[in-house]
Amino acid sequence: MIAKDTEIVRRVLAHIDAGTTDEGAPWREPVENYLNPSRFTAEIRLLRAMPSVFVPSAAIPNPGDHVQRSTFGVPLFAVRGRDRRARVFRNACRHRGFALVEDTGCSHALVCRYHGWTYRLDGSLAHVPHDDAFPGLDMSERGLVEVSSREVDRLIVIGSLDRPQEPGDETMPWLGDGTPWRDKLLPAQRLVYVDSTVRAINWKVLVEQFLEGYHIRSTHKDTFYPVQYDDLNVVERFGPNSRITFPYRNIERLRDRPETSWTIDARVTYLYQLFPNVMLATFPDLMLMVVIDPLDVEHSSVITYAMVRPDLAERAARDPGPNNPAGAASFIARGAVEDNEMSEGVQRGLHSGANEFVEFGRHESAIGHFHASLDERLARFTA
Ligand code: FES
Ligand SMILES: [Fe+2]
Repeated sequence: MIAKDTEIVRRVLAHIDAGTTDEGAPWREPVENYLNPSRFTAEIRLLRAMPSVFVPSAAIPNPGDHVQRSTFGVPLFAVRGRDRRARVFRNACRHRGFALVEDTGCSHALVCRYHGWTYRLDGSLAHVPHDDAFPGLDMSERGLVEVSSREVDRLIVIGSLDRPQEPGDETMPWLGDGTPWRDKLLPAQRLVYVDSTVRAINWKVLVEQFLEGYHIRSTHKDTFYPVQYDDLNVVERFGPNSRITFPYRNIERLRDRPETSWTIDARVTYLYQLFPNVMLATFPDLMLMVVIDPLDVEHSSVITYAMVRPDLAERAARDPGPNNPAGAASFIARGAVEDNEMSEGVQRGLHSGANEFVEFGRHESAIGHFHASLDERLARFTA
């Protein structure tokens, strides 16, 4: 599905020697596709009908833990049951529809804040205050409305939110097998922070900013460029998804060591784009999951979940010194500020009338793959 770590090191070292990078097909994306509200409406309809990654398992490690997030405009929440199964529900009470889960937390039952209807962790309705006021109410019929979901190697993946999944859509199989990310995500069991920000940027512009290393030198001159390479990536695809490898300069130390002793931790950042809108990124001592949730044609919410190994989480709690994961997070955050500045500039430029299309070169091929995957599904969906 994707190459082994040692193969990636070999390919990176060969690129360093030759001054090259992985190349693919170029792409031209019409500017109209970022600005047109009816295109956006069509995309949202498609996204709601497709499987996608909801939250990392680390957001709800224990029975009773729950977390909410709107997905493509649909309010949802996940809760871990006493049977340790994660379930995803539409976030609305079955009385008058109040948003049941308002925040992250842990509880034995889910109690609606409005009138106190109470649900078990499996979604069934357990208690209605003054139930004699609802003569026709069949409690067994009024549990929370569940959304199909499964937990795949520490990611909670949801199925279609609208009509049943397209028979021809192979996305679920590609999100249903965690082989590409399993060994990277499994150790990062502890969620250390969540950040949620709304940005005045189209969701696809935000996705694009993760998918190429052609901008490292000019955008990240004082942050990533000193430790990484400019325009040097390995680009892989699995189904509609991609993995882009961003090597660190310390990877060259592996040259003098036998291949059997090669470890890739802290020598590359792997960026997994899990189609359509979730990125998973490995950093030394830190794993990030970033969700780009489209709000309207020019607004998106960006939710970041940061996860670490349990021993590092404990060390960080004891010692807030420079070596704890928060330090790594603030370094990455400085890079992210630079990326967002660029995306904001691109969003403004879309309105200039200068370009009919946005140009992506042979070194930005993962972006072309993203747009091609989206176009192909839109065509099939609207046909
Ligand atoms: S809306 Fe939830 S109990 Fe009334
Ligand atoms: Fe960047």
